Amino acid sequence: MGSLLDWLIHFPPLLWGLEQVEEVAIRALKHGKIPQHVAFVMDGNRRWAREHRVETIEGHSLGFETLKNLLRVCLKMGVKEVSTFAFSIENFKRSKHEVDALMDIAKNSLNQITAHGDMVDQYGIRIRIVGDLALLKPDVYETVVNVVESTKNNTRATLNVCFPYTSRHEISNSVQSIVHLAEDGKLVPEDIDESLFEKHLLLNDSHPLDWLIRTSGVERLSDFLLWQVHEDSQISFIDSYWPDFSIWRFFPMLIRYQLQSQQGE
Ligand SMILES: *[C@@H]1O[C@H](CO)[C@@H](O)[C@H](O)[C@H]1NC(C)=O
Ligand SMILES: *[C@@H]1O[C@H](CO)[C@@H](O)[C@H](O)[C@H]1NC(C)=O
Repeated sequence: MGSLLDWLIHFPPLLWGLEQVEEVAIRALKHGKIPQHVAFVMDGNRRWAREHRVETIEGHSLGFETLKNLLRVCLKMGVKEVSTFAFSIENFKRSKHEVDALMDIAKNSLNQITAHGDMVDQYGIRIRIVGDLALLKPDVYETVVNVVESTKNNTRATLNVCFPYTSRHEISNSVQSIVHLAEDGKLVPEDIDESLFEKHLLLNDSHPLDWLIRTSGVERLSDFLLWQVHEDSQISFIDSYWPDFSIWRFFPMLIRYQLQSQQGE
């Protein structure tokens, strides 16, 4: 016999509608510690598609639904910031066909997520696109600028879409801007400390990263948020492919996160 919450999670449709179960679960979980900043490495779309013998693009669009659902429950619970690894600079090494398809998906997803009356307005989300924007094609770049511009006044939560991103690029970029300031005589080497360095990261002005989750059984960070992972960040690797990662798998993980944070205190 599991706990009531276990039962709710495994047989949700038997009881009420899924939405009501979600509300109840969220209300229960809010009694525990809620991470302020959660990061997702959305891994496994391609393998999911291969296993289900469908086009890769279907895996990616299902993956987008996963992200929207997780984002919704995170924001309802009071998570302040969500970061997602959408596209690594390394991905440019893939075939042109796939890179183009991924760019299109990113563009459409961004448009969809900011479509009027959708989540962005409902939850007051500011969207930041974090990465080397110079690598984007003009049409994708234009979408990015629009999305960032149209959400910049939102203050309740932040969604960081890391795209095209690697930590090493982010870190070297920060070094570059600091050196420029030094050259211009605006600072001396003694001014450089962790907080100055952080101010010049692409992910500046962020909440400390409490929890990083990577799906699909791969236990690597893959050049993601290397600076941001700190001594108290929890890291979870789970076996589900990203499109299979539902909120019903996320809730039990959050319970474990809450127990582990208690033990750490
Ligand atoms: C954001 O706020 C500024 C200053 O109040 C305003 O000029 C601008 O139109 C706002 N932008 C959006 C997209 O609401
Ligand atoms: C802070 O981040 C934004 C967006 O990622 C970037 O445009 C800006 O240059 C950064 N600020 C500094 C001081 O580097």
